[in-house]
Amino acid sequence: MSQLSHINCKIIKKNTPLYQIDPMSIIAPSLLAANFLKLGEACAMLNESEAEYFHLDVMDGSFVPNISFGLPVIEQIRKATSKVCDVHLMIVQPEKYIAAFKKAGADILTVHYEACPNLLDTLAQIKAQGMKAGVAINPDTDVSVLAPFIKEIDLVCVMSVYPGFGGQKFIEPTYEKVKALKQIITNAHATTLIEIDGGVDLNNAATLVKAGADVLVAGTTVFKAADPIAMIASLKQA
Ligand code: DX5
Ligand code: ZN
Repeated sequence: MSQLSHINCKIIKKNTPLYQIDPMSIIAPSLLAANFLKLGEACAMLNESEAEYFHLDVMDGSFVPNISFGLPVIEQIRKATSKVCDVHLMIVQPEKYIAAFKKAGADILTVHYEACPNLLDTLAQIKAQGMKAGVAINPDTDVSVLAPFIKEIDLVCVMSVYPGFGGQKFIEPTYEKVKALKQIITNAHATTLIEIDGGVDLNNAATLVKAGADVLVAGTTVFKAADPIAMIASLKQA
């Protein structure tokens, strides 16, 4: 099975509302909350779990006030996991690094709307490299800015915390944002997936899915759980 089959499966679901193939959400544990001394164990746990994506947060200390990890780490993760590598770039000038992240093993490459003056160009470059193209939006950016581009976007990552750090509190108005985004996608007959990133837990997962979320990113909730595999299964059922 190709790494992108989970993405495609979800898209089939969206186009066949009467015959849902996969009624559950896609779970994307975020590596940021893992123990960096034990990345091999994190990958083994993920491989064994029901998670479909591995969410990999790249921060440059410029677009966000924090620095995380980059290409060499993703290269190793790629070798250790069969899951979709969902790379979230919180960096300025992401267009400079598209080919490098493809080479490192990204399946989905998400850039920030706020960091891309030529968004359509950047999305086209990502797709030309054979990756799915994602666009992330900060909590203060209105979803309506994406309407003109929605058909070109494979995944919208709605930030439900200010980007830069794991373990923050979920921003409640995200629910309304997700509903508005879902409307934009439906109106355009687009197949764009909605991903929620930040503060996702068992208290908000079901409401997010009901609002239209397809993919739930969870760092702290998964990696700080007593049983991460069971937590992934619970999030998936939400
Ligand atoms: C924040 C990152 C998130 C983060 C989520 O800038 O984009 O992916 O890892 O972590 P939690 O789930 O702990 O909020
Ligand atoms: Zn992220």
